[in-house]
Amino acid sequence: MVDLKYLKKEEIDRLIKNPLNEEEILICRKNHLLTNAREHIIIGSTEPGSIYFKTHDGREILDCTSQAWVYNLGHNNPDISYAIQLQSQIATHTWSYFLTPIRIRLANKLAEILPGQLKGGRISVNNSGGGWALECAMRLAMVNNKKGDQFIVFRRGYHGSNLVMMGASQRLPMRFSALGRELWVRTFYPYCYRCPWHYKGGLGGVRDKSCNLECLEMVRESIEMYPAGTPIGCIIEPMQGPGGQIPAPVEFLAGLKEICKKNKILLIYDEAQTGFGRTGKMFASEWYNSVYNKDVSPDIMTLTKGAAAGVPIGITAAHSKLRTLTEFEDHSTFSSPPLAMAACLVSIEILQKNKIPENADKQGRKITSFLKDLSEEIPQIGDVRGPGLFIGVEFVKDPETREPYSDLLEKMIHIGWKNGIFFGEGMQIMSTAGYYIQNILKIKPPLIINDSETDRICELFEKTLKDALNSI
Ligand SMILES: Cc1ncc(COP(=O)(O)O)c(C=O)c1O
Repeated sequence: MVDLKYLKKEEIDRLIKNPLNEEEILICRKNHLLTNAREHIIIGSTEPGSIYFKTHDGREILDCTSQAWVYNLGHNNPDISYAIQLQSQIATHTWSYFLTPIRIRLANKLAEILPGQLKGGRISVNNSGGGWALECAMRLAMVNNKKGDQFIVFRRGYHGSNLVMMGASQRLPMRFSALGRELWVRTFYPYCYRCPWHYKGGLGGVRDKSCNLECLEMVRESIEMYPAGTPIGCIIEPMQGPGGQIPAPVEFLAGLKEICKKNKILLIYDEAQTGFGRTGKMFASEWYNSVYNKDVSPDIMTLTKGAAAGVPIGITAAHSKLRTLTEFEDHSTFSSPPLAMAACLVSIEILQKNKIPENADKQGRKITSFLKDLSEEIPQIGDVRGPGLFIGVEFVKDPETREPYSDLLEKMIHIGWKNGIFFGEGMQIMSTAGYYIQNILKIKPPLIINDSETDRICELFEKTLKDALNSI
């Protein structure tokens, strides 16, 4: 502990650590711009590195969301806390254009672990997250191809909620529109469970013999029939997260990479949710390499969420062949954030040394195989998707019609909380009938869960589902 200079330790404790009183809560609820803040107040981890969190009303809840898929190493991981503390004694901020020891070490480490053709690539870091990382990717594409500024994006995709990236994302219930709506060429994502051509597949799935990858044909047409010229970049989540935990089949990504190459379009993977071990590999694109021996790695990749195990960070990684950005083309005040970079570097070391992605793969397989068995008994479990701890359960009213069952998801979240487990939910999708569908439950706990915690998740899922069905 360093000697304090201006305040006493108790004075700082009072501001940060001491329990809340009811008056503070009331004032905040009344005065602040938090109209959507949920009723529950979360205090923090039950113990450092735990998969449980404490609430203000004294409960301990098993977290299947890792708080927006961020706490990969558990809530408040002690090694990460130590890394931040140590770095905070060296520097918490510098001008973004200086190199610093932590920036050099992180850049070198990322260059070493990036997948496929990105290996040895360059990185840019920010302290804001995925939306900003994608804007950096777009700027990079524009610098590398001055012929345009349009990008291909996909249905059910999500790329952030700042005013530009909102336009790249599936439309969400907001009372305003994105800026730059002319930037996007939106096309089909290969959502095999709801394929409009009625074929089945997906990662590890068996492709229907009659599947002609019509979805890929749609992408080709969107580009070749595009009146305003060829788009310069293609932004895709290789495994869609917010849109419903939907891994793209290998044939689709391999074909997409080929189309992009042929048309000089930079392929940009948004691995906000899938990066850093979540799917059971360090990066999602590695799945396709290891299972199918296909290098589908992109020209640019963006990362955030669990990258720094709970500290805000966004990363843009680019192929070393690309023309780089100047100081002003890639600028924000906090784009060389030492605390986040220290946390990210230490987190990578932990993932590698402790084989955490392998653990995510193992525990994820246990959960998905449990859910698939349960779907034999409970037909409302329409589809179970992975890989790793990137799990989606799609609820349907009837397995034949596959009609989405949004009410069941809502009950699951609500009753789950009462049962001591917090499940995640896919984003709302506007249906053609004019209402929102939200029927995909997410199980994405910290990647460090052990066998007994996995068993507990399965047990609580089954109990909650039976309680939810009984309550409808
Ligand atoms: C796939 C994906 N891309 C981009 C983003 C945007 O990241 P941020 O909220 O940090 O801007 C998110 C956030 O949920 C995401 O899930």
